[in-house]
Amino acid sequence: MKRSLYPISVKNTLGDLYKTPVGHDILDKLLLQLNIDPFWITNPVVSNIPLSMVKKLAGSKLDPGFFDAIIALINQEKDVPCVSNAPITPAWWKEAVFYQIYPRSFYDSDRDGVGDLKGILEKLDYLKDLGVGALWLSPVYDSPNDDNGYDIRDYRKILSDFGSMEDFDHLLSETHNRGMKLIMDLVLNHTSDEHAWFQKALKDPSCPERDYYYIIPDPEGKTPPTNWISFFSGSAWRYFPEEKVWALHLFSKKQMDLNWDNPALRQEILSMVNWWLDKGVDGFRMDVINYISKEHLPDHSLPQGNETIGSLMTFTGIEHYYYGPHLHDYLREIKEKAFLPHNAFSVGETPGLGMNMCRMVTGQERKELDMVFSFDQLETPGHTRFDDYLYDLNYYRDYITNWMLHYGNNCQMSLFYNNHDNPRMVSKVTKDPAMVFPVQVLLAGMQFTLRGTPFVFQGDEMGLTNYAFSSMEEITDVESVNLYQELIEKGKTREEAFATILAGTREHARVLLPWNEDIPADQKAKVHKLPAYLFQEADPSITAIYKELIALRKNSHALIYGDFALLNRKRDRFVYKRWDEKETFVIECNLGKTVRKAAFLPKDMTLIFRTEPYKNEPKETLGSYEIRIWKK
Ligand code: NOJ
Repeated sequence: MKRSLYPISVKNTLGDLYKTPVGHDILDKLLLQLNIDPFWITNPVVSNIPLSMVKKLAGSKLDPGFFDAIIALINQEKDVPCVSNAPITPAWWKEAVFYQIYPRSFYDSDRDGVGDLKGILEKLDYLKDLGVGALWLSPVYDSPNDDNGYDIRDYRKILSDFGSMEDFDHLLSETHNRGMKLIMDLVLNHTSDEHAWFQKALKDPSCPERDYYYIIPDPEGKTPPTNWISFFSGSAWRYFPEEKVWALHLFSKKQMDLNWDNPALRQEILSMVNWWLDKGVDGFRMDVINYISKEHLPDHSLPQGNETIGSLMTFTGIEHYYYGPHLHDYLREIKEKAFLPHNAFSVGETPGLGMNMCRMVTGQERKELDMVFSFDQLETPGHTRFDDYLYDLNYYRDYITNWMLHYGNNCQMSLFYNNHDNPRMVSKVTKDPAMVFPVQVLLAGMQFTLRGTPFVFQGDEMGLTNYAFSSMEEITDVESVNLYQELIEKGKTREEAFATILAGTREHARVLLPWNEDIPADQKAKVHKLPAYLFQEADPSITAIYKELIALRKNSHALIYGDFALLNRKRDRFVYKRWDEKETFVIECNLGKTVRKAAFLPKDMTLIFRTEPYKNEPKETLGSYEIRIWKK
């Protein structure tokens, strides 16, 4: 891609916009949100329309600044992504299977109802045996737990519910003793309002920490400084009546956004990151890391969000920080001053970034992040997490194929369906209990045979589904609690509001794992109960299948670094090939419930994997959601 089109202005056409890397990502995102096929833009009639004309045609339907906001984002990116076909550079984090632990609900060693570090320690052998190569711990730092640890009060202290720093050090060395790596969760976009920096900043207008945050004095306190909307409902500004100031919080009212433009703050962050790296942790998952650089107006105030973008994307103001003006600079600074000297790994959580933007932050030549989590595979077009709908895996096939073919060998993709922020994917794909097992095997089969780094979320390997919460009383997550309140205020009945929460709540992923052990009666309600056919009775169990598939990937250069080709993408079919000079695999998937004829029946390959219970069926038949792996 060349930069010859720049600077983009309203004289350019929609097609021009789509040719720029950032414009392409933005338009794709809008089309996805609106469930419109990209052909709508690429067809010659529409693509030749100048933006000035679209503006005129749209009249008052679009906020006047809509295109200006998008054009500003496009022109702000001075680089174009590089897409390399050179051989992939090997790295441990491309080979390892990661396993995400949400410590609160992983394993509760002292039976107080909360998972803990000793619990993780007790399960290290289990994880090693599963074939896991690296652990990602969701936050274990000291925190008032308004957002379960994503609101950090002290970056250098362990939350007492989880244990002590000694327990952490022990866990780290025992993880390393087993040949596994450990990465921490780094929350750098915000701190808790109880963090010492914020407490000082609030009380003392002249202290250096004041400028670590976005704190705006206002004696009246009637109108927030901007119209930005928080991800956890309502305004993104909290008023502190005693101090008569507003403070910015993109997440909960107790998660105060940090001002990364302040060099002293960045210095504090670097020293803390290096402190953990000196301890020997192998890297970090970086929470909403693409939000750290906020756009300022010339007078240093924050700009208003565009209302049209706000109504399309729900979170008014997002265009001013999700791909901010200094994002690349700040990422490079951490890379250079902390990660590179320690040979540490980084995976950024980057909501909203499309393929080009992901390339811009993960291309190995750019020295920013090693990898990112992008999220557009988690819901099908036109749907959001809180919609109750059936996920069509044909969308996943097309989405992932596009990334497999185009992301570039200089970028490594993360492969995941679940994390602590989402309901379980298997429950989105099927509501039929008899299909849960084959769907889970299908998801795992694709995850370990596509190209990229797989991230297993705790419980995936146990076949966990969503939890049947029966009322709001069982739900404590701040996002769900606030959204429920918002829905009621907007006039929804309690039943309607609860149904919405049930579809999308993060709580599904946060119930204690069932380890099939004796649990005190008063704790039982908190433990996820599994349908027996999934966990115990199936033979082999879903856990054994995970183990088998992880081992297959681990021992195959072709599956880790090999090429990818799509062989068949007819409705409900996904047939793809992975190969290197030594081995070839062909994977055939049935993405639907209907039993069909197999499309790929080679004479010169061996069938090395087939979903239970289809192993004894004729090879010509592809069972419901079956996945099979051929090898040569
Ligand atoms: C993303 C985390 O994954 C989520 O759990 C958290 O609530 C927000 N960032 C805010 O830290």
